[in-house]
Amino acid sequence: MNHTDHVNLLRRGVSSGGGVWADFGSGTGAFTLALAELLGPGGQIYSVDRDRGALRAQERTMQAQFPQALVHYLVADFTQPLKLPPLDGIVLANALHFQKYAAQGRVIQQLKSYLRPGGRFILIEYNVDQGNTWVPHPLSYQSWAKLARESGFAQTQLLATVPSRFLGEIYAAVSW
Ligand SMILES: C[S@@+](CC[C@H](N)C(=O)[O-])C[C@H]1O[C@@H](n2cnc3c(N)ncnc32)[C@H](O)[C@@H]1O
Repeated sequence: MNHTDHVNLLRRGVSSGGGVWADFGSGTGAFTLALAELLGPGGQIYSVDRDRGALRAQERTMQAQFPQALVHYLVADFTQPLKLPPLDGIVLANALHFQKYAAQGRVIQQLKSYLRPGGRFILIEYNVDQGNTWVPHPLSYQSWAKLARESGFAQTQLLATVPSRFLGEIYAAVSW
């Protein structure tokens, strides 16, 4: 996937023209860069990852490609309580599958607590319920829709899918 693919996965879930968003488990920033493009100059992003080196690399790429973007880099474990302002939106991309299935609901509720009323939660995951060594606990769109409902989201909508040579397909879904 390239930057255009990342933007296209998020596009329908992110209203342009600013807002405060967080990207949890942002890594080297594939979706943070996409968010920076979609939010534009009025946007503010909290980019959270426990891997300091990945965040440093991300900051360099961000400065090269979106020098005006306002991004706060937080080295932190997103399963632990974080001090964040009320968020308009959250992206959680390819990171929930590292949490055991039994823990996923608790993590989602924790992240959901950072959203302001009416805020949006975008999940990006492999569209399978069977993991492997690298992607231990993925959840299909159907499983996510159920977990999102159980976690207190009123609505969930599929935004986009892209084929993936690894595990078949990746989807983006928005919940609110
Ligand atoms: C597969 S990478 C995905 C990176 C990016 N979101 C993407 O889709 O390209 C997973 C990232 O999540 C981070 N991560 C996983 N669990 C985390 C946690 N509990 N707290 C913070 N970061 C976490 C890892 O350090 C890694 O950078």
